[in-house]
Amino acid sequence: MTDDPILTTRQGHPVPNNQDQRTVGSRGPATLENYHFLEKISHFDRERIPERVVHARGFVAYGEFEATGKIGDEPASTYTRARLFQEPGKTTELAVRFSTVIGGRDSTEVARDPRGFAVKFYTEDGNWDLVGNNLPVFFIRDALKFPDVIHSLKPDPITFRQEPNRIFDFMSQSPESMHMLTHLFSPRGIPATYRHMEGFGVNTYKMVNNQGETVLVKYHWLPRQGVASLTEGEAANVQAQELGSASKDLYEAIERGDFPQWDLYVQLMEDHAHPELEWDPLDDTKIWPEDDFPLRHVGTMTLNRNIQDFHNENEQIAMGTGVLVDGLDFSDDKMLVGRTFSYSDTQRYRVGPNYLQLPVNFPQGVNGKVHTHQRGGPMSYHTDIAPGQNSHVNYEPSMHNGLQEAPRKPHNPPQVSGQVQQSTIERTNDYVQARGRYSTIEDWERDELVTVMGTLLSDCEPDVQQRMVWHFFMVHDDYGKRVGEQLGLSAADVAHLKPLAAQDFTDAENQRLKSLG
Ligand code: HEM
Repeated sequence: MTDDPILTTRQGHPVPNNQDQRTVGSRGPATLENYHFLEKISHFDRERIPERVVHARGFVAYGEFEATGKIGDEPASTYTRARLFQEPGKTTELAVRFSTVIGGRDSTEVARDPRGFAVKFYTEDGNWDLVGNNLPVFFIRDALKFPDVIHSLKPDPITFRQEPNRIFDFMSQSPESMHMLTHLFSPRGIPATYRHMEGFGVNTYKMVNNQGETVLVKYHWLPRQGVASLTEGEAANVQAQELGSASKDLYEAIERGDFPQWDLYVQLMEDHAHPELEWDPLDDTKIWPEDDFPLRHVGTMTLNRNIQDFHNENEQIAMGTGVLVDGLDFSDDKMLVGRTFSYSDTQRYRVGPNYLQLPVNFPQGVNGKVHTHQRGGPMSYHTDIAPGQNSHVNYEPSMHNGLQEAPRKPHNPPQVSGQVQQSTIERTNDYVQARGRYSTIEDWERDELVTVMGTLLSDCEPDVQQRMVWHFFMVHDDYGKRVGEQLGLSAADVAHLKPLAAQDFTDAENQRLKSLG
């Protein structure tokens, strides 16, 4: 006998034999009333939950956020009343999940793919999830197109292979994707590790101060470890050795006490439509140039603790854009609204309707102050009754010692008027920032971008090739010329193509369109 703990069933019964089924004689047949065997095998049969429909492969680590108490040079309270930002040195516990997007749960972590950068802050006012990516923009600007863009990037429904022709068929008809593609197919599209990548909220949010005044905000995480990316060749070498290279790197760094850190910055803008800009502040295919909208430091995140169980803490963690605290708010960004529905919807299916009772999702920061009238549902294991609350009263309002509404706080809600319609925003300008990006990346990054694009497009149908080269010419002559050369296409070969419906152009782009060919 050793002092090791005794194996039991989930009913608490000791298990004297975990090697042999119960049988008639030593060779069988087996009997079916052996509770331990039934519990063990039927639990095993249910070990998996559905993997995330996107971002299936990922890895969680824990840490803390330390606030500067400021937003840039000003007190944080100038812009937000969110308590986690107010005092210098104030710390908030958090969990981060880094991920790839398209591959399944066991896929490679050096795929060319955006990386998820999702942070759950367990604040004293409840959870705040900041669900971002490593690239600052996205493929589309309207949530209605999300299932389409993801279907084009996911494996073909028959061959189950990721097919460039399907990806670029969709992208060629979605010119708003050109900026994102120019990021994704440059080396930034394959981060070397999770520790060496930036994070961006991508969508536009709001901050609200004590007077109820709002500003538009974008979030940025900058890694103190620096940014490092891989070329296609380097990624192929890593993948040949190890599929989970990024999770391994993060786990091992934390185990050896080499705690990665990111600084959180925000960009702010007055809360209105900004007609003076050539793009819309609510368009997630655009960045806000840092010269005009400087980065303002608000705090630092340190990851210092690994998970204990992959399933409980990585598979069951559930984050979403709807999870905001007082002092932070949504904007009317048409992607953000769709995302906010989608996350908790999928989590009720993927994890179950009581997913918020699980420790990794529970708002630990509020010190037990979760009080709702929600009851029942599969796997409910506690009620949210407040101490002293009348347990018969699971409704509100009531005169008999039930829960009360929280005090209302000032908020200047936006004035909204207009005709209900289905239409694209006015200032689409799909090429202007892709052009800026193409012009400012380093020569080796541009070489890699052009080569990767040319190689993938050479697998595509001629109509897809032509339309993509047409877009590249609209972004930058050099881009169109160099990718076109790899496909045997010149400007003259694509000049007959007409602009797509709903495209609008700057004056410079109209000139470029005329001069094509
Ligand atoms: C995960 C939907 C756009 C970042 C997910 C999941 C869904 C989803 C259904 C799976 C969640 C789960 O099972 O827990 C959408 C929709 C979008 C959208 C409908 C557009 C309308 C974006 C954008 C970003 C993003 C623009 C980046 C800013 C993430 C991240 C995760 C995720 C990081 C993984 C969260 C985790 O690690 O658990 N998304 N998404 N998504 N999404 Fe989105």
